[in-house]
Amino acid sequence: MDADDLDYLEKRALSYSPQDSKQQRPQPRQHHSEALFGISLYGVIILCFLLFAGLFFYGIVHGFWHLCSHYSAHSAAAATTRGSQLMHIKDRTFVISGGASGLGLATVRDLHAQGGYIATLDLNAENGNKVVSELGDRTAFFEVDVSSPPSVSSAVSALVAWTKQTSKPIGGVIPAAGVGFPGKLIDRHNEPIPLENLELVLNINLRGVLDLIRLCLPHMTTTTPTEPDGERGVIIMVSSSAAFDGQPGQVAYAASKGAVRSMTLVLARDLAQYGIRAVSIAPSYFESGMTAAMSQKVRKSLEGVFEFPRRPGKGEDFARMVRQCVENPMLNGECIRLDGATRMPSRL
Ligand SMILES: NC(=O)c1ccc[n+]([C@@H]2O[C@H](COP(=O)([O-])OP(=O)(O)OC[C@H]3O[C@@H](n4cnc5c(N)ncnc54)[C@H](O)[C@@H]3O)[C@@H](O)[C@H]2O)c1
Repeated sequence: MDADDLDYLEKRALSYSPQDSKQQRPQPRQHHSEALFGISLYGVIILCFLLFAGLFFYGIVHGFWHLCSHYSAHSAAAATTRGSQLMHIKDRTFVISGGASGLGLATVRDLHAQGGYIATLDLNAENGNKVVSELGDRTAFFEVDVSSPPSVSSAVSALVAWTKQTSKPIGGVIPAAGVGFPGKLIDRHNEPIPLENLELVLNINLRGVLDLIRLCLPHMTTTTPTEPDGERGVIIMVSSSAAFDGQPGQVAYAASKGAVRSMTLVLARDLAQYGIRAVSIAPSYFESGMTAAMSQKVRKSLEGVFEFPRRPGKGEDFARMVRQCVENPMLNGECIRLDGATRMPSRL
């Protein structure tokens, strides 16, 4: 007899009553069914535990995966944003003088195709309005004579009002309006060149460039800088191979283009504190309204001095360079020759 049996008999004796005589001690069969019941209960509990544990781990793994994919998507989005901020063209306004023809027009088309807003400035209203009808949205034309300070001032006021309407800040100024107007300081009759001829070239190619930049700057320095460098914009001026190897009769032109070349580094230094860069491009012979006016003979002899490629530059070649100047933040303070290694000779 074991301790359980003794305990049982003891309890039974203490609580004895006549009816109890009929009661029987629980049979071993009952013990067996209780055990079975216990086992199945434990089984259910273990199963439930396993199920919950499975669900719990699934939840953790799924949550972790979700977190990872969310993080990588977020990083990709951030990288795209950083990339788009580096682009500097989309949704920013570019002020382009001389934008109704030649190199200026090619630049207008290219920056517009990249999503930029273009304020086209030119003396030629007919061509300027054609540009707007051709490109449609995101362009506006402002008639200007860059050699006239009041004209430049009112054109800048009008284009700034336009940027307020569109909410697209000025991201770049490209003063491309320019004229050739050749002439030696003294002619074959020993007559000095009329001063107005020199002034015409200098006022358009040099003073007009400075004036337009000067009046646009206060509207650039106050824009929100873009990451990662805190850049606000870029000034891209048009110099010329005449700034390096000017040809006979190009004295005023070379003076103006040489000045543009010289002031590039100074502007870059002066504007660095505002996050504004300054570059200039010095093309050689490019197809444009200006060079179309040259005689067939002069054009042919110019083509004879090309190294490679053996062709005049095209507007698209120039515009591609402008785009690179806008997009590449390390281009600053430099006058970039765009000439296929061509060096203009003294005589053609
Ligand atoms: N084409 C070339 O081979 C070449 C080479 C070197 C530099 N550049 C320079 O490139 C720039 C663009 O010249 P392009 O070759 O395209 O000539 P282009 O004649 O085709 O275009 C010049 C534009 O400037 C405009 N313009 C002229 N005077 C103006 C004024 N006072 N106010 C406002 N607009 C005025 C004209 O109406 C014209 O639309 C110029 O600065 C030029 O000196 C041209």
